[in-house]
Order: sequence, then structure tokens, then C-alpha cells
Amino acid sequence: MSSQRVTIHTLRAAKARGDKITMLTAYDATFARLLDEAGADILLVGDSLGMVVQGHDTTLPVTLDEMIYHCRAVARGARRAQIVGDMPFMTYQESVEAGMRNAGRLVKEGGCHAVKLEGGAQHAELVSRLVASGIPVMGHIGLTPQSFHQMGGFRVQGKDAAGAARLIADARALEAAGAYALVLEGMPSEVAAEVTSAVGIPTIGIGAGAGCDGQVLVIYDLLGMDDRFKPKFVRRYADVGATIKDACGRFIADVRAGAFPSPAESFSTIAGPPAAVPLYSSAAAGK
Ligand code: KIV
Repeated sequence: MSSQRVTIHTLRAAKARGDKITMLTAYDATFARLLDEAGADILLVGDSLGMVVQGHDTTLPVTLDEMIYHCRAVARGARRAQIVGDMPFMTYQESVEAGMRNAGRLVKEGGCHAVKLEGGAQHAELVSRLVASGIPVMGHIGLTPQSFHQMGGFRVQGKDAAGAARLIADARALEAAGAYALVLEGMPSEVAAEVTSAVGIPTIGIGAGAGCDGQVLVIYDLLGMDDRFKPKFVRRYADVGATIKDACGRFIADVRAGAFPSPAESFSTIAGPPAAVPLYSSAAAGK
């Protein structure tokens, strides 16, 4: 794996070679560093942060300023992965001008290398204007969480012939407008495979089966941070929620029992002169 920054060209070449693309969501610098070191090709600062970080029921309340804040943190943490920032609800639906201005802020202030927006052919003009201005765009079709109320909930899309045909037409329209990749979310695997072969740009699936050019998961789902949430399409690779509860429970018990901190974890005037390094520094952390 090359240590060079992943670009839209790297991803296009991966599709041409048949190499699978990996994308994970990240919302802060520490996760960005870990996922980057693990080898993720793309870090998506998803508006899913509205649910998993902020505790909302949908992604709708997330603001552009909040996205910019998280994008900046993720951009500081990653060296190799491409950073994609989600355009939040109603920052691009109102007009092409609003979409241009707000996407520009995600790149200029957030440090993103590309933006992602939900929807199909209706956004073709915005996509082509952004691309002409030098901002790569990742499309997102199928189950589009910002249309939660219009869809009547988080519902699988493209289940009948007309719905599937619409998805293929949307994918083609986004590609023709200049999108460099597409997220395919919540659709039958046969439809996602059809979309994938209908376009020349990479498709990245979530709840869309194995026929896509790559896969994405929300990092909190992959790590098992919430035992109340286990949709069919999620594979939990760890039970980090239980690990966190166990570690914190042991800390709480130690503090209550007077077992933390020990003398070895404390500073003392008896032990000798003050340490030469400050309490918190990168030198003290061995960096
Ligand atoms: O917001 C997000 O995390 C996303 C992914 C689920 C694709 O859009």
C-alpha cells in the first residue's frame, strides 16, 4: 500500500484494477489517525455524526459549522486517506449558489479534499459547477438519510423496477455531471450491482451488497459502540462499547476503593527534584 495521499485518480485506478475501496466514517483526530494507520482509503466526515456523536434521531439538525469543526479535526489526524466532508441538510438543496458557497467552506475551512451530497439528477447542475471550480464531488443515492421524512423512515430504496431504473438514471446523471464516486446506500444488492456496472466511477456501498466497488460503514457501528443498534447490513468487528464500560467500571471501582492513584502514579516532593519535563507535553508522551 502506497503511503501517498489517496486522490480521485487513485480511486478511479482502483476500480479499473478491480481493487476494493475502503471508506470509514471519522469525526475526530484520534479516530482519523487510527483509521488512517489501519489503511482506510477514504475517511468520510459523515453527517451521521448528528446521530452517533450528537445523539439526534436523524442527521437533519447537523449544521455546516459543526461539520467544519469535525472536518478540521479529522484532516489534522490523517496523512494518507482522502477526507470527504458531508454537505449537511439544507446547505445545498436551496440553490446552486448556496451549495457552491457551503461546499467551498467545507474545503477552505474544513480542510476536506472532496464533498459528498445526497440525491441524484436534481443536483447535476450543482455537481458540475463544483467540479468546474475544482471541488471533487461524491454522490449518494438510494436510502438518503436527509430525506428521512420524505421516505417515511430509513427505508430500502429501488425495490421495484421503476425505483431501480430511477437509481440507475440518477447514477448516470451524477457521473455525467462530473461526480468522481457514488455512495449506494440501502438498496437491493442486484440493483447496486447494476448501478456499479452502469457507471465508470467507483461505487461504495452500505447496505447495498457485495457488488459495489467498495464498502463503507459508520465506525461506531463497526466497533460495536451501541448494543441497541444492529441493522442487518452492519458487521460488528469488535465490542468496544463493552470494553469501554468494563474499563471505566474498573476505574470507578478503583477510585472508590482508594486504589487509584497508587504512589507510582503520583508526584511527590520526597521522591526528588521536580521533573524536567512539563506534566503534559509531546516529549513526555515520547513523541
Ligand atoms: O453520514 C454518513 O456517515 C454517511 C454514510 C453512512 C455513507 O453518509
